[in-house]
Amino acid sequence: MAAARFYSIEDWEKFVDIKQELIKVKEQRRNLQQKLEALTEKLKLETEKREYSENEITKLGRLNMIGQLAAGLGHEIRNPMTTIRGFLQMLQSKTDLHTYKNYFELMIEELDRANLIITDYLSLAKDKPVELKRLCLNKLLDDLFPLMQADAYTQGKKCVFEPGKVMEFEMVSNEITQLVLNLARNGLEAMPLDGCLTIKTFMDDQNIVLSVKDEGKGISEEHLSKLGTPFFTTKENGTGLGLPMCYKIAAKHNAFIDVKTGSDGTTFFVRFPASKIGD
Ligand SMILES: Nc1ncnc2c1ncn2[C@@H]1O[C@H](COP(=O)(O)OP(=O)(O)OP(=O)(O)O)[C@@H](O)[C@H]1O
Ligand SMILES: [Mg+2]
Repeated sequence: MAAARFYSIEDWEKFVDIKQELIKVKEQRRNLQQKLEALTEKLKLETEKREYSENEITKLGRLNMIGQLAAGLGHEIRNPMTTIRGFLQMLQSKTDLHTYKNYFELMIEELDRANLIITDYLSLAKDKPVELKRLCLNKLLDDLFPLMQADAYTQGKKCVFEPGKVMEFEMVSNEITQLVLNLARNGLEAMPLDGCLTIKTFMDDQNIVLSVKDEGKGISEEHLSKLGTPFFTTKENGTGLGLPMCYKIAAKHNAFIDVKTGSDGTTFFVRFPASKIGD
C-alpha cells in the first residue's frame, strides 16, 4: 500500500481526525451489529415461546373435547356395569355356584377397578373444584416409591429416587400421584432389560422440579410433536391417554412439562411454580 504523504501540519491533523472518526464509526457499527444479533436472538426466543404457547392451547382444546367425550362415555358405561355387578353379587351368594366363588370375587374386583379408572378420568374431565393441599413432593414420592420399584422389578428393570431439597406447594395429591405413575410407567416401558429409571426432585429458579429420566432409545422428532395428543400411541396395547392426563394435571397445577430426549434416553421435567396456585 502506498504511504500517505502530508504536505502540511493541517493535512496531518485532518488525517488524524478522519482516522478517529473512522474508528468511532467502526465501533458504532460493531455495537449496532451486537445489538442486532441480541435482538434477533430475542425475537427467535419470543417466536419459539409463542409457537409453544399456541401448541399448548391447541393441545388443551383437544383435551377439553376429549374430556367431554370421555365423561359422556364413562357415564354411560357405568350403568350397565352396575347391573352386571349386581347380578354377579347375586350369583356369588348361590350355594350351587359356590365352587366359582373365587371367580365371582375376581370379576367383581375387576369391575370395581374399571369403575375407579372411570371415576379418575371423570374427575379430570369435569374440572370440578378440587381440594388443594400444601404438601411436599418428596413425601408423596417416598410413599409411591415401593410401588414404582415393584413395577420396575417385575419388568426386570431398576428404579431410583433422588430427593432434593424442595419447597412444599399446593397440589391435588391423587392427581400428582397419577402424573408421576404415568411418567414412570412410560419411562419403564421405554427401557430395555436392566435399564434404570431415575426420579429426582430439585429447585430451579422459582420452580419445584420433578424429573423422570429413562435409559430408552429416545423419542423421534415426528413423535415428539405429537406427545400429549389424546390417543397418540406407538404401543400395541397403549391407549395414548397417559401423557394427555399428565399435561392436563400439570396445567391444573400451573406447571409446565419439558422433554429432553436423545439416543441415550428421555427425561420429562415437570416444573411447578413455587408461588401459591391462583396467585
Ligand atoms: N419416556 C418415553 N420414551 C419414549 N417414548 C415415550 C416416552 N413417553 C411417551 N412416549 C411416547 O409417547 C406415546 C404416548 O404416551 P402415552 O403415555 O400418552 O400413551 P401410551 O403410553 O402409549 O399408552 P397409555 O395410555 O397406556 O399410557 C407413547 O406411545 C410413546 O410412543
Ligand atoms: Mg403411557
